[in-house]
Parts: sequence; C-alpha cells; structure tokens
Amino acid sequence: MATVVLALGGSLLRPEVEERRDWLREFVAIVRDRVSSGDRIAVVVGGGAPAREGIEIASHSIDDIEHLDRIGIAATRLNATIIREALADDGIPVSGSIPRSVEEAVVDLERRSVVVMGGTVPGHTTDAVAIMLAVNSGARKCVIATNVAKVFSDDPRSNPDAEPFDCLTLDQLQEIVGPPEHKGAGSSQVVDPVGVDVAVKNSMPLDILDGRDSGKIRKSLEGEEFEGTIVEG
Ligand code: UTP
Repeated sequence: MATVVLALGGSLLRPEVEERRDWLREFVAIVRDRVSSGDRIAVVVGGGAPAREGIEIASHSIDDIEHLDRIGIAATRLNATIIREALADDGIPVSGSIPRSVEEAVVDLERRSVVVMGGTVPGHTTDAVAIMLAVNSGARKCVIATNVAKVFSDDPRSNPDAEPFDCLTLDQLQEIVGPPEHKGAGSSQVVDPVGVDVAVKNSMPLDILDGRDSGKIRKSLEGEEFEGTIVEG
C-alpha cells in the first residue's frame, strides 16, 4: 500500500475550456482506480480563479499580505469542496470534512483512503501544503499537477530560450525557483519555493506535470513513465 500526495493547481478546475469539461469525471475515475489498487491518496487543491479574483478585489483596500492570503485559503477550500463532493458522490471513501491543518490531514489519512484539503495558514501556497503533507504522512512522492508541461530554466512566457527539463535534482529545482520566500498573495511560480525547501530538507521526490491532461496524472500516480519533470529525492 502506497501513499501519494497530489497538489492539484486550482487552474485545472476552470470549467469554461471545452477540453476540460470531462476533466473532473476523468479525475474521479483515476482516484477510484488507485483506491481499488490499495493506494492512499491525499489531494491538495489550489485556489485558481476564485483566489485570483478575491485577492484582486480585496487588494485595492487591504495591504497586509496575511489578510489577502486568507482570502486565497478560502478559495482553495471552495475548490477542495468541489473535488471532495465529486469523489464522495462516486462512492469513493473520502474523509468527511476538509482538514484545516497538515496534522489533521495525516490523522484523516489513517482512517480513510482519500483525503482532500486546500490551504492551511498564510505564508505559502497549496504546493507547500502538499509537500508538507507528503513528508508527514510518509508518502513515497508528491505529484505537482500544474498547467505547464515541464519545469523550465526560466519563465518560457518571457524568455523564448528557456530550456525544459525532463529530470532534475531537488537542489537544481531550488536553484531555479529561488529562496523559500512567500512573494505575496496569489503570486505564482512553477512550484512554490517554500514547498521546494521542505522537499529539499526531507529528500521528497516530486513529479511535476501538466494536469490539464488527466492521463499524465494517471501515469504518475500509477508509477508509469509520464511527460513532465521528475525531481529525484
Ligand atoms: P494556491 O495554492 O492556489 O497558490 O493558493 P498559487 O500558486 O497562487 O496558485 P496556482 O498554484 O497557480 O493555482 C492561492 C493563494 O492562497 C494563499 C496564498 O496567497 C496563495 O497565493 N494560501 C494558499 C495561503 O496563504 N496558504 C495556504 O496554505 C494556501
């Protein structure tokens, strides 16, 4: 029996893009199959559009990053509820509530095969929560499902010469994302540097992939070869 933690970028829940209409159904099927194979799965869901929108509205009258972070956390819990209810509706043994801390999630994961949560406290993103949960639950790896194909040497949107990586060490990934600082509510990097720092200190392997293609999530969770970046622990 293996435990795997999956960080699901909130942008994956956008319903308006046609190809993603079936994404949630496919995701539920993947979790169902992994549970049938005896795995335990913890899913940590990002804030996506509601986080961005909420933080944008509030940022005109709120300066304190912690207060803006809390708006982001509320959005992650909304998205986690969408995923939790979809899994529960399918009959998958998912924990009944959305844990508020990594410690609570570890306890829930001992009782149920599947736990779904969002953010916890200000100062980091759900990538960091997922990596902390992976470390604390003895998971074999943490899968970061985001909306880019691979980790690049630089931001490919601003640097056309940025180089994609199939494989990296944790130290190399840390060099790319930089020091473990929370740059502000809603600011996004390929993987949260606060989380990468936790992975480095605990030698936690990471699979980073484009979760818009649910087939890549399936392959990574099944331990098969997938297109993305493998970060060795
Ligand atoms: P996300 O985890 O969605 O982060 O949390 P992100 O990197 O901005 O978005 P993605 O990964 O591209 O979808 C949204 C925001 O909620 C707050 C932060 O402000 C974060 O940017 N947050 C989230 C916390 O403060 N603590 C948490 O544990 C999680």
